[in-house]
Amino acid sequence: MDVLMLKGGNTLKGEVKISGSKNSSLPILAATLLTDDPIIIKRVPNLRDTRTMIRLLQSLGKEVDFTNGTLSVKAGKKASYIADYELVSTMRGSFCVLGPLLGKLKKAKVSLPGGCVIGIRPVDLHIKGVEALGAKIEVDGGYVIATAKKLVGNNIFLGGVFGSSVLATANVMMAAVLAEGVTTVEFAACEPEIEDLTNFLIAMGAKIEGKGSPCLRITGVKKLKGVTYEIIPDRIEAGTYILLAAATRSDLTIKNTDIKHLSSLVDRLAQAGVRVYDEKGDIKIEHNGKYKPVSVTTYPYPGFPTDLQAQFMAFMATIEGVSIISDKVYPDRFIHIAELNRMGADIRREGTAAIVQGVKCLHGAPIMASDLRASAALLIAGLMAKGTTEIHRIYHLERGYEDLDEKLIKVGAKIWREKEK
Ligand code: EPZ
Repeated sequence: MDVLMLKGGNTLKGEVKISGSKNSSLPILAATLLTDDPIIIKRVPNLRDTRTMIRLLQSLGKEVDFTNGTLSVKAGKKASYIADYELVSTMRGSFCVLGPLLGKLKKAKVSLPGGCVIGIRPVDLHIKGVEALGAKIEVDGGYVIATAKKLVGNNIFLGGVFGSSVLATANVMMAAVLAEGVTTVEFAACEPEIEDLTNFLIAMGAKIEGKGSPCLRITGVKKLKGVTYEIIPDRIEAGTYILLAAATRSDLTIKNTDIKHLSSLVDRLAQAGVRVYDEKGDIKIEHNGKYKPVSVTTYPYPGFPTDLQAQFMAFMATIEGVSIISDKVYPDRFIHIAELNRMGADIRREGTAAIVQGVKCLHGAPIMASDLRASAALLIAGLMAKGTTEIHRIYHLERGYEDLDEKLIKVGAKIWREKEK
């Protein structure tokens, strides 16, 4: 296994081209199960997670070809309704095949996704949503077994303890588009990735009103057709590189991203003394030299994204003063604190919040990646720190950042790989 080596302390310069969105690709790939027609999807990032979803589609009977970011999906010999453990357990996002399998085949057997380092990751809202449409649910041997004679539209309130749920919204939408009658979903997730899925389903012939809003109205149709579709850019990848530029005081141009999807990050960075702005479709970052500590609390979209919380904390680690970071989506998503402190950061938990006391600088160290976005925070810290950092278990990073080494080397990062000793 490789170790990612970083020599930190220098500023970066140049352009970073953002790939297609991982978190759009996963539900949209799942939605191809809703038709037997051929489908072409462009700008799919080549990542561990998208390759896992491709393997899952193949195990469910699809023929999939994936070349240069373009994915073609055709019906294979025999459709299966069983999403087995070893694929779903490696990637929680696979659980979003539940809705389309139910929608198309009226049955699904999907392994319950395990928890992970960011939280226990329940699926009660997914179950509540499909049960409201008429599915009978059994949980047996670690699998959710869902069957339905037919699916009938209903009024569903999908808000949970932590607010809206992205993939529960996706699952319910994908079950409702082929149901009989009208389904309303209140407290639907408004993330751009859900809007992208909505656009994809509408292109396939689904009838959905309220896209991008917390209230969706879905009128079931008999059949959905094949389409050619292009995935939106990955706002979390873009936000990660913007925070890398802020943290290393670098002049990076972020290409191929919709700044409208990053308003909460732009707002917090402006408070901190970093101006992020759009210049003819490119995102530019301007430093005013004196940074200020800024507190942040994550919320469902359009709030500050939980998937940028760890990266923002890395940026705050060397800003003089105190910033307070809390995560209302995953209250325990702080595994990165221990590793940042090993690099000389001064961060402590106080109840559900993390208190970041800015230090003069971080120092390189051997560190362990744990989850995708915590690993991104360690990457930022390693490029900020004096000295060399080794990041172990970098497969976590490869789940969500396409061509990571190439994109960083292109802007001058001193980054290379060595074999695990
Ligand atoms: C999606 O996960 C993303 N993954 C996550 O990104 C992201 O962190 C998360 O949304 C929140 O934005 C994909 O899109 C593949 P949720 P999802 O259901 O849909 C609770 C990354 O790094 N909840 O919106 O699984 C849940 O515990 C990944 O790319 C319930 O209580 O997240 C959490 O506290 C990590 N019951 C909150 O809702 C449920 O049935 C939001 O979770 C479902 C969720």
